Amino acid sequence: MATQEEITKIIESTDMVELVSPYVKLTKQGKNYKGLCPFHNEDTPSFVVSQDKHLAHCFGCGKGGNPIQFLMDIKLISFPEALTELAKKNGIEIKDEYQPKEQKQDNTIYYEMMSTSAKFYHQNLTLTKSGKSALHYLYQRGIDDVTIKTFQIGLAPATKDALYKVLKEANYLEFNMMDLGLVDHNDQGYYDIFSRRITFPITDEQGHVVGFSARIFDNPDKTQPKYINTRDTFLYHKGTILYHLDQAKTEILRKKRFILHEGQMDVIASTYAGLKESICTMGTALTLDQAYVLKRYANHAIICYDGDKAGINASKKAIGIFKKAGMQVHLVLLPDGMDPDEYVHTYGQEEYVKYFESHILDELEYNFETAFLNVNLKDSFVIETVKNIVFEQIQAMPSQTAKEKYLELLARRINGSLNAILADFEAFTKTSTFSTPYNEDYEEEPIFLKPIEEEKNYRNYELRLFLYARNSKERALKIDKRLGDFMNAFSPINQEIWIQLVNVYYAEYDEFDDQLFCSILSEEQKTTYLNNLDILRGSIEPYSDEDLECILEKMEDMHYKISNQEINKVIESTNDMELKKTKLAEKFKNKKKSMSNRRK
Ligand code: UTP
Ligand code: MN
Repeated sequence: MATQEEITKIIESTDMVELVSPYVKLTKQGKNYKGLCPFHNEDTPSFVVSQDKHLAHCFGCGKGGNPIQFLMDIKLISFPEALTELAKKNGIEIKDEYQPKEQKQDNTIYYEMMSTSAKFYHQNLTLTKSGKSALHYLYQRGIDDVTIKTFQIGLAPATKDALYKVLKEANYLEFNMMDLGLVDHNDQGYYDIFSRRITFPITDEQGHVVGFSARIFDNPDKTQPKYINTRDTFLYHKGTILYHLDQAKTEILRKKRFILHEGQMDVIASTYAGLKESICTMGTALTLDQAYVLKRYANHAIICYDGDKAGINASKKAIGIFKKAGMQVHLVLLPDGMDPDEYVHTYGQEEYVKYFESHILDELEYNFETAFLNVNLKDSFVIETVKNIVFEQIQAMPSQTAKEKYLELLARRINGSLNAILADFEAFTKTSTFSTPYNEDYEEEPIFLKPIEEEKNYRNYELRLFLYARNSKERALKIDKRLGDFMNAFSPINQEIWIQLVNVYYAEYDEFDDQLFCSILSEEQKTTYLNNLDILRGSIEPYSDEDLECILEKMEDMHYKISNQEINKVIESTNDMELKKTKLAEKFKNKKKSMSNRRK
């Protein structure tokens, strides 16, 4: 980074008249120079250049500034690029020259923004008066100061734009805040995604904060979800991220196993009890991608999900995924449907580890145990049901030895004689001609599941439309027509810029010109627009109709996704059955449209 002194030196040694002259025909007027503004269309000169102040300013449109600003605006380049160019021109050496190309490729600035946010939340919890009640809540749950520090737990303030202001103050751009899923925008301005919630930073494998999970703690509004997690961004992919993996990996390598929990509270409780190889996914089912990430550290999974119906179903799916990845799987089933967090707080850390280590089950044992969960073995009808469930499991077992072992176990468990059980089992195998699969709960196919690469580039799809539109007016109008109802797939600010481009700029001009276009944008729009170009610079691909079509389809998909999110909100918050029905029908229609798109 160049120092402030170096920057000042560069500004002061630049001849502003010489710098502006290639772009503006200047004439001397008193102490200053004047010309037609290069940033907007005018007939009488209002662009003034002051040689001794090293400044340019347009009294018509307000554009201008010091030499660096001027160069950035006129050439549409970034600050470091402008700085480097001027330094070279004036023979000034910058100690550590900005490297615009490399800078763009690495995520340093985004990691900085995320860690600034985590620190802000953490300090707000631990050092402010308003953090008191959240701290109290955590203490009550057995989370002490050391844990709070290690896991960088924090508190998102109740103020709607607290984080936004902090990031703005630190000179970060709104565009980036929104991209990172920290901030959003509506008619009233920018607002924080997380507010009045306890925050858990989520780190990637290298330990960079890439997202947050935020838990409700004092909000009486019961319609609010318990946890809100960062939406998928270019840094955060819920399908690959594993909470606490960066901290746990040393222990995973050492123990050659990892423990997969259901939620971060369990990971925290388990880690503090001594099982430091604990990790979890973020509110989603385990994916094959995640299994492969874990496999790099250890080939042995221990699943420790809740002992309720959802937990058991999820465990069975996770077993399948680990097996598909060629990994060894065991499971731990805590008693009475407890989760690790509850177990630790009921029986203590030592008891928890003791129970855990002595109850590591293989898949057959686990299936057998789940048949007995929450059932009353005094009821003879229940016994019959359990027996049939276990018979089904036994029937599917490949070895005779295993079959015998489990028939014996079953007899013991239900207090029956082995002979009676054997007879029942024989009768069962005769009547059941085929074994039924587990009664899995019906689950909606997630229709918007996209390969990770595509998710990551989504933002670029949106931006790439601008490149196409910049290329030709005809094409811009065509795209605009195709976009029609799904304009909301643009982020709000890009939507504004698009409207400016098609409805204002192209209504007036036929040829595209960046400077001219920028002159009709507001400050904020311009910053975003230039940033968009900056992001795309270097990655500009050859134009093709197929590519354009593909982008438009993505936009359309996104539109349906956003509409359905809005519909879901209505469905969840209303008691009006008629409205619910209408909304469900709408949602269904959206899905159908989106599916038919996909098949194209
Ligand atoms: P649980 O509801 O089991 O929460 O969700 P928990 O871990 O026991 O949390 P506490 O003890 O009530 O605080 C398990 C995980 O599912 C995700 C979260 O990652 C959570 O840790 N989840 C849960 C969500 O993403 N959203 C929700 O609304 C609820
Ligand atoms: Mn819990």
